[in-house]
Amino acid sequence: MHGFSYKQGLLHCEEVDLNELAATYGTPLYVYSSATITGHFRRLDEALSGVPHAIAYAVKANSNLSVLRLLAAQGAGFDIVSGGELFRVLKAGGDPAHCTFAGVGKTRAEITYALEQGIYSFNVESEGELRYLNQVAGELGLIAPAAVRVNPNIDAKTHKYISTGKSENKFGVDFEAIVDLYERASKELPHIQLRGLQMHIGSQLTSIAPFIEAVEKVTPLVRLLKERHGIEFWSIGGGIGIVYEDSLASGTPEWWQQREAAAVPLTIESYGKALVPRLKDLGLKILLEPGRYIVGNAGVLLTRCLYEKKGSAKTFKIVDAGMNDLIRPALYEGHHEIVPLVEPPSDARVLVDVVGPICESGDFFCQDRSLPDFQPGECVALMSAGAYGFAMASNYNSRPLPAEVLVEGGSARIVRQRQDLAALIEGEL
Ligand code: LLP
Repeated sequence: MHGFSYKQGLLHCEEVDLNELAATYGTPLYVYSSATITGHFRRLDEALSGVPHAIAYAVKANSNLSVLRLLAAQGAGFDIVSGGELFRVLKAGGDPAHCTFAGVGKTRAEITYALEQGIYSFNVESEGELRYLNQVAGELGLIAPAAVRVNPNIDAKTHKYISTGKSENKFGVDFEAIVDLYERASKELPHIQLRGLQMHIGSQLTSIAPFIEAVEKVTPLVRLLKERHGIEFWSIGGGIGIVYEDSLASGTPEWWQQREAAAVPLTIESYGKALVPRLKDLGLKILLEPGRYIVGNAGVLLTRCLYEKKGSAKTFKIVDAGMNDLIRPALYEGHHEIVPLVEPPSDARVLVDVVGPICESGDFFCQDRSLPDFQPGECVALMSAGAYGFAMASNYNSRPLPAEVLVEGGSARIVRQRQDLAALIEGEL
């Protein structure tokens, strides 16, 4: 469910007309619905209410300070992957004691910063890292709370770049090696407090089966670690998939009711229903690390059509956003629905490629897609761009980063200024 819909023929975010935002702030422009973000947070919280749990929002999905602030106010913790993300969380008023730190390559500076801030847990991805964490903590006279990430070797059935729970992925420690590692750590690493176990099998999972498989496979291991090492939490990671294909329609409760009725697997309620009974008697705090589920459908990227080019093979709609602003189609063949900001008067469609201005053939938002025949000067929304959109934007082709706006009911405020040309060369000599 999300806050984007046509009202009197104009695409709105909550009560705000996106046409007005495009005119006021220019394009490309990211716009987020705060009600959608908080609504998703609450629905997930509710779905897991049968088990002691905490939600650590995966900051990497969207790290705008105002988004973090909104989630901190809801009581979210944060899953970070760098010192930079910890810095953002602290700036946004997040509590370090509710932060977990993931990632395979933490540096001394990052470890030191996180230890000094007193984070909840380092989610460690190798024995080498665990030993280094022990060493750095010892040098600082501190104890490092830690969980090891288990790689359960389960196929998440998602795009190969965002599958993380197979043995050939770089993430985590082999399932079979975990018990011995905890044994060695408890004997040899005095500056480590083994606090939990973590896993995350991949992102954009659209069926419940891999989640169940992973939970069932790892449960005996978790029980054993609790018995032997007194661990207190199990993080089952993030990965809950969202709707990309039908993203405008999916704004309504009716659409979701139909989906439930058709027993289409992955709704948040079905996620809760499947997992809570399997987790509730473990006597552990269950941590969740959702990123995309919280913010994905809560954001759109507005872009204006600059030109139309009819070639012998194709018709191209050239827009002012590029792969530097939203790289998901280029990198993961990600699908984002493309919706005119003014509702088209008819169902007429044309077959087009929507492309950006970047000098790369991979710079497209769709290829050979049937879309309303929007014209130069008109704006469209790239839907479901709230997760891994701005967060992955770059200055490639020396294009300034787009602005970001947060909508709350009938009001909209800029939460990141459009980068100007001076900022583009800041720090260069
Ligand atoms: N926890 C860990 C350890 C992760 O690595 C990730 C995502 C998450 C949680 C959050 O996953 P989510 O709930 O958002 O699926 N840029 C890609 C997605 C990369 C995901 C990386 N890890 C995309 O645009 O599809």
